[in-house]
Amino acid sequence: MDLTVDIAGVKFPSCFMNASGALCVTEDELMALGGSHSGAIVTKSMTIEARQGNPMPRYHGFPGGSINSMGLPNLGYKAYAALIPALKQFGKPVIASVAGLCEEDFPTIAQVINHAKPDLIEVNLSCPNIPGKPQIGYDADTSERIVKRLRKIVTVPMGVKLPPYFDPAHHKLMGDVLARCGVDFLTLINSVGNGLVVNPDAETVVIKPKGGFGGLGGAMIKPVALANVRAFWKHFHGTMPIVGTGGVVDGVDAFEHVLCGASAVQIGTVLVEEGVQVFERLEHELTACLEKKGYKTIEDCRGKLKGL
Ligand code: SIN
Repeated sequence: MDLTVDIAGVKFPSCFMNASGALCVTEDELMALGGSHSGAIVTKSMTIEARQGNPMPRYHGFPGGSINSMGLPNLGYKAYAALIPALKQFGKPVIASVAGLCEEDFPTIAQVINHAKPDLIEVNLSCPNIPGKPQIGYDADTSERIVKRLRKIVTVPMGVKLPPYFDPAHHKLMGDVLARCGVDFLTLINSVGNGLVVNPDAETVVIKPKGGFGGLGGAMIKPVALANVRAFWKHFHGTMPIVGTGGVVDGVDAFEHVLCGASAVQIGTVLVEEGVQVFERLEHELTACLEKKGYKTIEDCRGKLKGL
């Protein structure tokens, strides 16, 4: 089965890739993604300075999903800019994920990273784990200011990674903002921010930062992710490439994202749990699913979710 996809004119050898955050901080992790079946190498969201991130424990997996409050541990943007040429040697797209702790950080990082020529840039407007810093994607005006500034700097295809929205009014508000900004793709969704998982035996939280509050991922967030993929697919009448992220545990989950309108899917929790071999498993499972249904390509079923 041909699982290659095209996003904003960039060819991907497979529709599966890592989500920014999952096993993509260090040079070794990024190289391992390069040598794996991942269809792209997505970097950890980078900030101006290198960061250790939040205190540990800051990730907890459990049946049904995960909670994390990593706090953007990363090498700093200059280190990722220097690594991009080596990462491009793997012959698959390199996606640089750009974050910031304040508005000014985004254009500073984008200038240098754009110059390093990743294949695409994903602007992270949705990290829920920096104490005292609200998720930018929940502030439409700030999002618009930042993305418009970046649009003037970035010359490679540029997308945004958004938080989940829970009301059609917010899908419309952000959809209109992004149409005005002119982005090339959307990554939907980041973790469902500020959930709380409790250990009833110990009567404690399960992660240390932010009093135990963190971003939820994995199987339990799939319906929220699918709803956001579908809502933005409809908002843009199927013309905006969408990278579906959230709740992809097996090939059928990926098929559901594609039915809702995703061009490709990113893998977070199960990549952390299983390691980079997960991509081969997912390829086999999606292929089996598409073959069973008689589809020849991903394109044949993209966005084709039916009503009742
Ligand atoms: C983190 O580093 O806290 C997660 C990154 C993100 O959610 O954007």
